[in-house]
Amino acid sequence: MAPGVLLDDRADAPHTLSAKRFNTDAPKDLFPDGIRTSGQHPPTYEKLRSYEDFPKEITGPTVWKPEDYQNSPERWVHWFTEEEKEELGAAADVYMKSGAPLTGLTKGSFPLPKMSRLMDEIREDVIDGKGFVLMKGFPVEQWGVDKSAVAYIGLGSYLGYFVSQNGKGHILGHVQDLGDDPTQIHRVRIYRTNARQFFHADTSDVVGLLCIHRAMEGGESDIASVHHVYNTLQRERPDVIKTLTEPIWYFDRKGEVSKGEDEWIRTQILYIEPDGKGRVYCKWDPYFVRSLTRFSDAGKIPPLSPKQTDALQVLEDTCMRLKLHMVLEVGDIQWLTNAHVLHSRTEYKDHAPPAPRRHLMRLWLSTPESEGGWHLPFPDSDEKRRGGVQVDNTPPKYPLQGE
Ligand SMILES: [Fe+2]
Repeated sequence: MAPGVLLDDRADAPHTLSAKRFNTDAPKDLFPDGIRTSGQHPPTYEKLRSYEDFPKEITGPTVWKPEDYQNSPERWVHWFTEEEKEELGAAADVYMKSGAPLTGLTKGSFPLPKMSRLMDEIREDVIDGKGFVLMKGFPVEQWGVDKSAVAYIGLGSYLGYFVSQNGKGHILGHVQDLGDDPTQIHRVRIYRTNARQFFHADTSDVVGLLCIHRAMEGGESDIASVHHVYNTLQRERPDVIKTLTEPIWYFDRKGEVSKGEDEWIRTQILYIEPDGKGRVYCKWDPYFVRSLTRFSDAGKIPPLSPKQTDALQVLEDTCMRLKLHMVLEVGDIQWLTNAHVLHSRTEYKDHAPPAPRRHLMRLWLSTPESEGGWHLPFPDSDEKRRGGVQVDNTPPKYPLQGE
């Protein structure tokens, strides 16, 4: 299978970032910040700040309550206009016809003169504003999966550049129930099951989800403002915030480990962006923390303490209390920041075959100005960030591999 095309998540492949981890061939004009893997990276411990350095309260547009938005869709929902669909569809046709590699798709090679201003506003809103936007009416049924994928990546290129989503270097993830057993949390990525996902952030600056097929029931989306949750807990349970700022949390690499690396990383859940604006960010996924009992049972790492178990439950419960609920319909695209929004999904049931299963296409995007966002301060940062996605200059194959 050629690297660098849109790959399917279902193919067997070794769970390793392998020799290509340091992809020094990555063109800087396409990946100005280096090619990053979705793997977990340990922080530079001396750059982590202690609880005393964290603000008592966070202010600004990143702090929001569900009632600020739940009855005002005009503040966060954008319906594609006919003109926008026409422009986007035409750009996708031209790109597909050109034979240019999909991994080379950038804002520069996917001109959207009419839509670019809107996308700039969305980008600003996602990165530095409320952190979420829902776009509706993307014509997936009319365009089919191939053209939809190209148009979707093209749209995403206006928000950031794509990064790989696993050790196989996949840039377009298929969120679908593949029958994986969700109780095997040490080796299963929950997005490949129909289980409920607790509040978490993905390991990219921005995540996009395009709904191709809905479930028969469930699979609905909840999001919460990390900064509102933070302020609430600073008032109600500052001890929990303190625990979340301690570098005592182990995250599972779930087998996506390069040679010589540990099977886990240890870090903070709440941390202060090391450079840039010094914002409070959150790196959290309970499935990657709870899955480590195979190592704690063997005495390799400490088990979760009662204080930690309490903190993660309080975090989940507080997100549940302060969540904004939304349902993704076919043709909806949800854009979220992972730096200051946590998201979750309800359990779901698919229609019986031959009806299609619930299917979302996921993009993970990197935004250079979010440096220090989910990317904890890396040691020897340039080298550590490379790997994962491999760039291929051969023409793409249509239909896209994986579909
Ligand atoms: Fe997620």
